[in-house]
Amino acid sequence: MSSPILGAKRLVGIIGDGPWKAPAFESLAAAVAAAITDGRLPVGARLPSERELAAAIGLSRTTTGRAYAQLREQEFILTRRGSGSVVQLPSVPGGRIDHLLSPAGGDETEIDLTCTAPVAAPDILGAYDRALSHLGAYLPGTGYYPSGLPVLREIIADRYSQRGAPTDPDQILITSGALGGAAIAVRALLDVDPSEAEHPGGARPTSRVFIESPTYPNAIATLEGAGATLVTYPLEYGLQGHHWDIEAMEQLMGQMRPRSAYLIPDFHNPTGALLPETQRRDLAEVLLRHRVVPVFDESLVELGLEEGRMPTPMSALISDSVTVGSVSKVYWGGLRIGWMRIPRHRVDHFASSRLGLDLGAPVLEQLVTVELMDNHDAVVADCRSRLRAARDLLAAQVRSWLPEWKLIVPSGGMALWAELPEARSGVLSIAARNHGLRLVAGPNFAPAGGLDRWIRLPYTVTETEMEQVGPRLAAAWEEAKAMSGRGPTSRARIVA
Ligand SMILES: Cc1ncc(COP(=O)(O)O)c(C=O)c1O
Repeated sequence: MSSPILGAKRLVGIIGDGPWKAPAFESLAAAVAAAITDGRLPVGARLPSERELAAAIGLSRTTTGRAYAQLREQEFILTRRGSGSVVQLPSVPGGRIDHLLSPAGGDETEIDLTCTAPVAAPDILGAYDRALSHLGAYLPGTGYYPSGLPVLREIIADRYSQRGAPTDPDQILITSGALGGAAIAVRALLDVDPSEAEHPGGARPTSRVFIESPTYPNAIATLEGAGATLVTYPLEYGLQGHHWDIEAMEQLMGQMRPRSAYLIPDFHNPTGALLPETQRRDLAEVLLRHRVVPVFDESLVELGLEEGRMPTPMSALISDSVTVGSVSKVYWGGLRIGWMRIPRHRVDHFASSRLGLDLGAPVLEQLVTVELMDNHDAVVADCRSRLRAARDLLAAQVRSWLPEWKLIVPSGGMALWAELPEARSGVLSIAARNHGLRLVAGPNFAPAGGLDRWIRLPYTVTETEMEQVGPRLAAAWEEAKAMSGRGPTSRARIVA
């Protein structure tokens, strides 16, 4: 990809033209580095040549050359013959690895396929910069906004309304990611109000929550942590991939009488399945008939990778339902910003339930989200086109290196869910470490166990890494086939 060229005059406009404290090359390098870290110089921009900068800034060519050499050494620029010096951010030693996720440490040369999440979108630094200029207005207050900043709640409410689910900003709570929203929702929904339980049309005094299998592993942990007893509905599987059978869901609901449900109808994690329009109304009727108040996780809803209209949001079809959403999949998980849409009559109860968990999301990150949302549709379009290419590249890798694996390419989301010829995904995840790959085995996605025949392969790593996935995976699979045992017995720690 070619990088946008930054003219020498423009660069001088950004970093200033001195006076430069001696040694000048060091002050010049420090000024460029500061502009990169605070987002005034965007990652990916191509700097002017040393000669052009020297002429524009009134320093010698030797000085600009030494400044660029220092920036190169500090990893602020990458210089390639023919394509000049391109701005980048230096890697932080150990910075990609979290101790909670990798207690034994990690190796940065490994390809990490444990996470369906992107690296930060290009404008994040710029958005932080712009958001900082609005932060001052909030400083005279206490900074506690347990419902979220009004300006962001309005933007999110508008987006629901545009999608066909008319929403008042009062129905929106800004949360710590979609997972934070799911935790609040399930806590509030399971919190039995005795007067309601006695009411014939009221909620059932049970902690049962209906959930798909496979599903997003942290949702399993969150629901169980909130005291839910899971009622597991195994998604159907056929030639078209995974799908829902509404009649089978109704039967299970009739037998088990759950109080709530946690469902991912939009590019379901991990299968990528999308609940079709024709089944959405049926599902809404079934949930209503069985007095189940559902939580729909729409974390991946914007990641449709094929042309065509998205089906009606479930929240437009069933008014007594909760939806959670997030910026993690389009912008960056590091923002930790998500939201929930709550039925009007439940807002007060949810808001007080939330106060038992946390006191709100950070103000600066909410302001950053406001800035990002300004250009949202273009960013989503860009994100989709990158993911589409990545999905096709990974599918081609798997097909060519592992032709005996079954693959149904999903129409959206961030991962392939591949079927192995033998139930060995646990040992595959162990063998993979010997070949520089980190994987999450199928059983992690199974609320009631099983699924060792499946493996999730996110297509969120770089193109260069993806090109190495096929050979590494094939070598790991050969090793796994020769291994005995069933693989890890406890759930892996993953976030996305
Ligand atoms: C279905 C689903 N819900 C929630 C999350 C977590 O999102 P957040 O970072 O917004 O908490 C993920 C991340 O992968 C996900 O796939």
